[in-house]
Amino acid sequence: MKIIKSIKKIQQILAKERLKGRSIGFVPTMGALHEGHLSLIRQARRENDIVVVSIFVNPTQFGPKEDFKKYPRNFKKDALLCEKCGVDFIFYPDAKAMYPKGYKTYVNVEDLGNVLCGKSRPGHFKGVATVVTKLFNIIGPDLAYFGSKDAQQAIIIKRMVEDLNMPLKIKVMPTVREKDGLAMSSRNIYLNKKERKAATALFHSLKAAEKFIKKGEKDAGKIIHLMRRMIQEAQPKKIDYIEIVDAQSLLPVKKIKGKVLIALAVWFGKARLIDNIIVHG
Ligand code: PAJ
Repeated sequence: MKIIKSIKKIQQILAKERLKGRSIGFVPTMGALHEGHLSLIRQARRENDIVVVSIFVNPTQFGPKEDFKKYPRNFKKDALLCEKCGVDFIFYPDAKAMYPKGYKTYVNVEDLGNVLCGKSRPGHFKGVATVVTKLFNIIGPDLAYFGSKDAQQAIIIKRMVEDLNMPLKIKVMPTVREKDGLAMSSRNIYLNKKERKAATALFHSLKAAEKFIKKGEKDAGKIIHLMRRMIQEAQPKKIDYIEIVDAQSLLPVKKIKGKVLIALAVWFGKARLIDNIIVHG
């Protein structure tokens, strides 16, 4: 496994690999790797000749009051995990190289970036779409892997790839969870013991909603009400949102019909946790 910091160098290396006819699988991450990330890396390993993982805490996707500075960073541990999973290259650029002085270009996926998480994190998905575009341009992958834990992000990236005719395929993998159902996240380490236990209410509320729908409930408002009650019992710091939206347009639905995304963002202590499931009504 090689660790490459330079944009030019990784471009040169991968150009040679491509000339040899080797396929490139790519997993973009912000590091602090856990089993969720590793599931994407293992899938990439199974399906490609060369596997590239990027580790870059992207400043443009954090708001001014968000946790950019405090975001967990543990490069040594991440590199060991990547090596164990058979990664060929870690791309580990500096923020200064990615966004040099005079940087002016951003990618904005309209509408899809302004709902759900986009409402409370203005500019977040513009930062994500921009960095992912840059990473795709640098790595030039055949396949890139994303997790459905960040369902809105995956939907936005798929839209962007189609709209901008980017020559690669996006694969979206299932959410990896702890034994008690909590979705794995680099931000879970912000939780104290009590918050960690209480946070299982998120997954339980999603499962309850799914059960309710499977029994024939069609009224989205009723389902959200039930979820809100379940989550409030766990005494979170704040519920950011609980929404049921069309799984493609991300627009709210009143009556459950077809594929819907049930998504939520809830604060426990210092952690803003997100989770979701897709249900067929
Ligand atoms: P990060 O939060 O590090 O996540 C990297 C990838 O891992 C994303 O595709 C995310 O959906 C996936 N992932 C995280 N937790 C997961 C889980 N429990 N199960 C399955 N997959 C999971 O998402 C980002 O970084 C950034 O926004 C990035 C795309 C790298 C752009 O900066």
